[in-house]
Amino acid sequence: MKRKVLAVVGARPQFVKAGALVRAYREGRFSRFFSLKWVHTGQHYDYQMSDVFYSGLKLPAADYHLNVGSLPPAEQIARMMQKLEPLMKSEAPDLVLVFGDTNSTLAGALTAKVNRIPVAHVEAGLRSFDSRMPEETNRILTDRISELLFCPTKTAVSLLKAEGLVQGVSWSGDVMADLLYREVQSMKLVRKPSSFYLATIHRNTNTDCPMRLESIFEALRDLNAPVKLPLHPRTLAFVKKNPRLYSRIHRSSELAILPPVSYHDLLSLLYASKGVITDSGGLQKEAYLANVPCVTLRDNTEWTETVAAGRNVLCHPDAMKIRKAFARMEKRFRSKPEPLFGQGKAAHKVLSGIKTWMVRLESKGL
Ligand code: UD1
Repeated sequence: MKRKVLAVVGARPQFVKAGALVRAYREGRFSRFFSLKWVHTGQHYDYQMSDVFYSGLKLPAADYHLNVGSLPPAEQIARMMQKLEPLMKSEAPDLVLVFGDTNSTLAGALTAKVNRIPVAHVEAGLRSFDSRMPEETNRILTDRISELLFCPTKTAVSLLKAEGLVQGVSWSGDVMADLLYREVQSMKLVRKPSSFYLATIHRNTNTDCPMRLESIFEALRDLNAPVKLPLHPRTLAFVKKNPRLYSRIHRSSELAILPPVSYHDLLSLLYASKGVITDSGGLQKEAYLANVPCVTLRDNTEWTETVAAGRNVLCHPDAMKIRKAFARMEKRFRSKPEPLFGQGKAAHKVLSGIKTWMVRLESKGL
């Protein structure tokens, strides 16, 4: 009998990761070994945060949509689990596949675990060591209860080892790198730095403190360079709560606030930008892959390799410091970055890892 995998996604970065998996599943003809069904929790639900990725990346429509939407975090996770449980019971998959570090990741992993279904975690082993981030809790807990842990970097493998996690851990490379390499090639994108910075802000450590958010917008405005800022809905909601900030932003001629953009539009902006200013995990990595200097407005990052390589700088939200950080990085960008995130075969490695695990189950008569 053919084995079954149930994949749980729900937030924007997971649709991107799913894009790489879906393609590798088709191209590697893995359907001969196991079926792959998709659950969308509905954590992200706007057209620009969800549908645009399904159409742009040609993702198959979700087999199940939980329509959970925006709720306080505990309620959001609980509601997802409540809806996932009967579904996992009726589908009875051999494995539940989760991605990254969002509330959908934790809800998927935990529901599977309490129902004795093994879990595979794509993007395992990342740590920012910042316990204020909900994502850090989600990562640690998900890794603890996963059977198969696919690490995007060698650092992630070592971090898991330091926590005593070795069994089931493997280095796969990064599935987001797979997708970027492919799409850049098919879009025939080449790096043509223009005069603007690309910025994104949505981490709760930046958005939830009004003073911090104000200083970020002030810094972006004072850069004396055009900044394009596709704004996450949660950030927009916080900005709207602060009328003074809202009106200042809209009066700034250099700061262009855009709605959230599609994956392909983001790549086009990235390749045309002179630098990235962000707090996103994914964009730090995409900047590295695209050979674009990146300033991260956080005190820490889980993508430490990009900082060690001198291509990403952690910085306070201050225009002068941001400018200096970009100037310091300048020399690095004459050479190409090391392939820290694999050569574009990560999704294939993940699926092969799952297949091997299933063969082993078979041989044990399970
Ligand atoms: C989530 C993830 C984060 C990931 C990010 C990418 C968690 C804890 N965080 O953060 O790891 O990097 O997604 O985008 O899971 N909203 C909308 N429309 C949408 C989605 C969200 O308006 O389609 C607004 C709502 O006001 C919502 C808020 O954004 O309350 C926050 O959404 P939430 O799902 O809690 O997490 P994100 O901040 O998006």
